[in-house]
Amino acid sequence: MFRFDVIIIGSGLAGFTLALQVAHSKRVVLLTKRTLLDGASSWAQGGIAAALDSEDSIENHVRDTLIAGAGLCDEMVTRFVVEHGKAAIGWLIEQGIPFTRDRNANTGYHLTREGGHSHRRVVHAADATGLAIQQTLAEKVRNHPNITILEQHIAIDLITGHKLGRPDQRCYGVYALDTAAGKVVTFAAQHTVLATGGTGKVYLYTTNPDVSTGDGVAMGWRAGCRVANMEFIQFHPTCLYHPHAKSFLISEAVRGEGGLLRLPDGTRFMPEHDPRAELAPRDIVARAIDFEMKKRGADCVYLDISHKPADFLTSHFPNIYTRCLELGIDITRQPIPVVPAAHYSCGGVMTDLRARTDVASLYAVGEVAHTGLHGANRLASNSLLECIAFAQAAARDILEQRHVPEPPLPQWDESRVTDADEEIVIAHNWGELRRFMWDYVGIVRTNKRLERAKHRIQLLTEEIDEFYQNFRVSNDLIELRNLVLTADLIVRCAMRRHESRGLHYSRDYPEPLPVAENTVLVP
Ligand code: FAD
Ligand code: SIN
Repeated sequence: MFRFDVIIIGSGLAGFTLALQVAHSKRVVLLTKRTLLDGASSWAQGGIAAALDSEDSIENHVRDTLIAGAGLCDEMVTRFVVEHGKAAIGWLIEQGIPFTRDRNANTGYHLTREGGHSHRRVVHAADATGLAIQQTLAEKVRNHPNITILEQHIAIDLITGHKLGRPDQRCYGVYALDTAAGKVVTFAAQHTVLATGGTGKVYLYTTNPDVSTGDGVAMGWRAGCRVANMEFIQFHPTCLYHPHAKSFLISEAVRGEGGLLRLPDGTRFMPEHDPRAELAPRDIVARAIDFEMKKRGADCVYLDISHKPADFLTSHFPNIYTRCLELGIDITRQPIPVVPAAHYSCGGVMTDLRARTDVASLYAVGEVAHTGLHGANRLASNSLLECIAFAQAAARDILEQRHVPEPPLPQWDESRVTDADEEIVIAHNWGELRRFMWDYVGIVRTNKRLERAKHRIQLLTEEIDEFYQNFRVSNDLIELRNLVLTADLIVRCAMRRHESRGLHYSRDYPEPLPVAENTVLVP
């Protein structure tokens, strides 16, 4: 058993920020299930939103966030995060992030624009902002004497007072599988942090990396945390559509800089769906694309920015330009085939302004958390900001806590020593789950489709539970178990919402109810 002051599960922006903020006085272990840079943070393209320009204001940014959130953003939380914008960018600049500069701008940095933003306010490092941030922070984390990094360690379950048969509902640590050694290790700490990112892999088509399997939401729920608003899955309107491209995003900044959406015959269609056209919030654009594709039986629509000068495109979007060219699409001359894909989970483990969950000494930061910022639809580029604002809040809270005596923790039960007899069961169930979630719990939902999904989830849950109880745990089994539970939480939330709002659109309830309410599930 290993003892630390703080266990951080996840090495995305939320995990890195928290680690760097507490490590001066705490011994930290950073568990991550693949390598340090695997995660959505490294894939972030557009940038990070902050009202920095003299023509912009905190009020504008708050208003845009509330509008996108369709009545469900918590205004106090929104203000807290938005007011944090300038300091967050300042902290990143101090760390050495090479944001794109603009000599003519009053901020000194180029600010791009994305859907739903009334002003240019997205700070970025060309079109690979996340990688620039993560590579820089990873260096700092690697070189910190108080941070122990354990790659290839997948957290399985949290160890709570309740599970130890104690009266207190406190988190004492976590069991994690060292996938290289094939052994389960026990980690004990005063504070445990879920920084496990999103849930995109619940869906067949997603912009997310393979690690986004909802592990944190599932672990938090099993530990006794409330979970909220899981029905609000954001579908990004423009994921590259190409047989050889897996999950490659075409940043919203392409539309922000003038990209136009066209049907296969070249006609624009967004102006018919919303006066903001291509710059309407994501839920509207994704639904419009879905509608047009279904109406015309089209496989994709096209995003065209070829009217812009080639040197503008290659300097602003070098990553997108190169990747598309590798696949035979020259974006300076041709439109880009795109489809919507699952991108972001607005719901998650419920937290307060200090990132505390319902379980004492357990925190949740980043995409895994439901803080109240995103409401029914996240405003583009607000999530990296949320990662920093709440990781710093959690760090402040952790640093203020007094030491609590820790009970002895039991080792992982090694009685299940048999390896799974049929790995095909896991592979099959992965595929089946992701397909029916796409078909039945996608951009447009109905009661009947949700019922179908619920029924299938029940069957899969029984099969996977049996597998989990009888065989040695493996990375794939742990992820599948979490994916099915996450899917169940999404469907349960979707069935509770008898209206259409933000990212949840139901054909059976096409209008919003007069009063907006969060969907809160209590374990
Ligand atoms: P991640 O960065 O996803 O990190 C999660 C970490 O947890 C990973 O290290 C993972 O391996 C680890 N992990 C998960 N489960 C376990 C487990 N059981 N045990 C151990 N480790 C585990 N947002 C913006 O604001 N601006 C953008 O421009 C932007 N662009 C995006 C582009 C793409 C393609 C995608 C997918 C998302 C984008 N987003 C953007 C959203 C944003 O990137 C994410 O919401 C944010 O990075 C999440 O950070 P995180 O630290 O919470 O999680
Ligand atoms: C993008 O670059 O389009 C992604 C931005 C985001 O998800 O916030």
